[in-house]
Amino acid sequence: MSRPSTYLQSALRTSLRATQAHIPKQQWSAQLQCRTFSLLQCRHHEAQIRQQKQAIRQRIRNFELLRRKFSYTAARQHGHLDPPKPGEELHVTFIDKDGEEHTFVVAEGDNLLDIAQANDLEMEGACGGSCACSTCHVIVQDEGMFDKLSEPDDDENDMLDLAFGLTETSRLGCQVKMSKDIDGLVVKLPSMTRNMQASDFGGQNPKHH
Ligand code: FES
Repeated sequence: MSRPSTYLQSALRTSLRATQAHIPKQQWSAQLQCRTFSLLQCRHHEAQIRQQKQAIRQRIRNFELLRRKFSYTAARQHGHLDPPKPGEELHVTFIDKDGEEHTFVVAEGDNLLDIAQANDLEMEGACGGSCACSTCHVIVQDEGMFDKLSEPDDDENDMLDLAFGLTETSRLGCQVKMSKDIDGLVVKLPSMTRNMQASDFGGQNPKHH
């Protein structure tokens, strides 16, 4: 009597031969090709679904980053600044796009974006002062004063690279805080800035204004 494994192999061979005997060779090979093709199609679809899932996850991550950025923006309060304590007044002058000068009395620690917005000057501050746009670009008028400012960090330098009309004394207004060292600072608002609210965050073409 044969051993079980040998018996099984022989039974399989017999069944295969019987199946092959009932299906003509050409048909057998066509069926095989058809199944192989279906298998390949399934794998291809699987890969496509995997890619789509990855793309959706990436979009969710991007959306979440954007949502955090905007909630941070909303949380910031612009348009109101506490007045300086008596004897601690500092002065800053903005030259607007028409060349008109506006001088304000401000407190130590106020940043140029907040000062401009509190006084209705045209400074967009699209990212709310989180150093993620360049719409608060200002040009420091005096080189000596520019040297007294704290060094811009990498984030600010990256954003400044995107600013229109970049100069040797350009800074981002939201990153410049008033201090005694720069009392009397004079900055100019550039004639053009990049609108990042609709374009860069929404994926449309940038607008200039
Ligand atoms: S407000 Fe966006 S970088 Fe200053």
